[in-house]
Formats: sequence, structure tokens, C-alpha cells
Amino acid sequence: MQRILLDTDTGVDDALAIILALNSPELQVEAITTVSGNVHVELCTRNVLITLEAIELREYPIVAKGESQPLIKPFVNAEHVHGSDGLGGITELLASDGERCYPHPEPRLSPVSAVDLIIELAGRYPDELVLVPLGPLTNIAKAMIKNPARMRNIREIVLMGGVFETYGNVTTTAEFNIFVDPHAAQLVLDFGIPVTIVPLDVTHQVILTRERLNAEIGKKKNRLSQFLSDSTEACMKFHHQRGGFDGLYLHDPLPIGLLTQPELFETVDAFVQIETSGDLTQGMTIADLRPERPRPTPNARVCVGVNSESFLQHFFDRILSTTTRF
Ligand code: BDR
Ligand code: CA
Repeated sequence: MQRILLDTDTGVDDALAIILALNSPELQVEAITTVSGNVHVELCTRNVLITLEAIELREYPIVAKGESQPLIKPFVNAEHVHGSDGLGGITELLASDGERCYPHPEPRLSPVSAVDLIIELAGRYPDELVLVPLGPLTNIAKAMIKNPARMRNIREIVLMGGVFETYGNVTTTAEFNIFVDPHAAQLVLDFGIPVTIVPLDVTHQVILTRERLNAEIGKKKNRLSQFLSDSTEACMKFHHQRGGFDGLYLHDPLPIGLLTQPELFETVDAFVQIETSGDLTQGMTIADLRPERPRPTPNARVCVGVNSESFLQHFFDRILSTTTRF
């Protein structure tokens, strides 16, 4: 059993990652921390609580609200992809009786901030805790600045972010999570604990289509399947209009899959740097992944391949299973 902490800017695909992690018997989710990214941290935090209610667990992991602003850059969000509430508009959906389908949940939150909770758990579980950042790296960087000694106890960081051999999704060269807080990303890479990166190059290979989702959840009608259908609809529509496919990328569930099914992934060691200041290239992740090139000492493991179909099957088996939850 691996102890993990999910750090998220929930987000449609973040919600799917939370559900996958909580349905993975190999993982113990010690906490969920939130950060501004897809939408403001207040909404990301609410979205975590809405997601947890949809899963109907007996016991909930602790949730802590995190940083609202990147280290240096002004904040930019991704409302145009995830909706103004971050969950494709589901918080405005009304049932036939006029009540909200997804009422605003009670704010059951940790009394300490995300940064302090990360530091506390790093100390409580030395060499055990794996951080899984699914948004900008602001909370993680701030925890490293505040208490570097404790943060050296982190076993590993497995993050979704970056792009190496294809185009970015915010600018031509940058992926969203790194673009929002490139200074935090560089600080995390410089810190010196093991980092594994799951970039767009790989997440763009794993598409959840509406057709497949409908076929899988058609077999099971319950609160969770309704949430999956409602929360993904607007994001799928966005990609249909923009990208020509009726579906969405499973960005954030992939680091969870890498932890629990590593045989489905291919990785290479690399020396990764972040462009923090370029006018045209800010947020770019730079590494030479060519095997024949002499390399500087690696500071990260970069995921370069995934067995998409096996991962998708695994994803559905897990998220629609009711037997693996604690
Ligand atoms: C990443 O950006 C966010 O919009 C998604 O949740 C994912 O973490 C993909 O670039
Ligand atoms: Ca995310």
C-alpha cells in the first residue's frame, strides 16, 4: 500500500483522478489539497467535496485548501475548458423540483492550510509519502520553501504536467499546469527528491470518448454514474467543437495509473528544465529525450509511452467498481 497525497486544481479530469485513486486498493489517500489552477482555489476546493459526495465513501480523506496565487506570475485559469465552476457547470444544474442537483457541500476542511498539511504529513510518514500534483505546483514549492528539512522526507513526486515532443495546450510550447506556475515547477525540480513527470505527450494518447463513457456507465445507473455523465459533458463538447473528437483527455488519472499499474507505462530518465521567463516560451519544459545523446545527470523520470487501451479498461473497471473502496 502506497501512501499518497493528491494536490489538485479540480477540474473535470482531476475529479476523475480522485475517483480512480479512491478506488485503487494499492493506494492510501492520506489527504487531498487544493490549489488555484483550472479555476480559483475556492471553487477547486468545493469541487473536491462535490466529487467526494458523488463517490459516497464511508470515510473521507482530509481536504485542505491551498494557495490562490502562483509564486510570481499573475494567475490564469482554464474556465473555457472546465466551465466557470470547474466542473462543467454542474453546480448550476437544477432537478425537476427546482433544487440543485449538486448542492454546495458543507465545507468540511482541515483547520490547517494545504502547505502546512503537506509539511505535517511529510514528517509523519518519512520516506513513505508520495505527492501526486495534478495542477500547478504552487503548494508543493511553498512547502519546500517553508520547511525544506521535512520536505526531504517525501518519497517521490509523480505529477501531471509539461510537454516535450509535441505542442502545448496553452501556448505552442507550454502545458497548462507548468505554464500557470513555472517558477514553482523549476523549484520542485531543483529540490532534489525523485520526480516523475506524466506530460501531455502521453496524456493526449488517452481519450475518454462520450460513446465509451455512455457504453460503460449504461450498465450501471447510480449517483456516481450520473456525476460522471454530468461533469464531463461540457468538457467533451469543448473538445468536439475545438478538437474534432467528442470526448476528453484523461490527463490527471494517468499519474494514478502509473503508480498502480506501472507495467502499462514507459519512462526515461532525463534532465528537465523549465523556461520561467521567455516572452514566447514561458512554461516550456525542456529535455533532450533522444537515447543516443549524451545527457546531463537526470533530475526526473519522464513518461514517454502508455498502453492506452489497457489503461482505459483499467480506469473503467476501477471507477465503476463498488468493491475496492475503503
Ligand atoms: C492539465 O491542465 C488542467 O486543465 C488539467 O486538469 C490537467 O491537470 C492538462 O494540461
Ligand atoms: Ca488538473
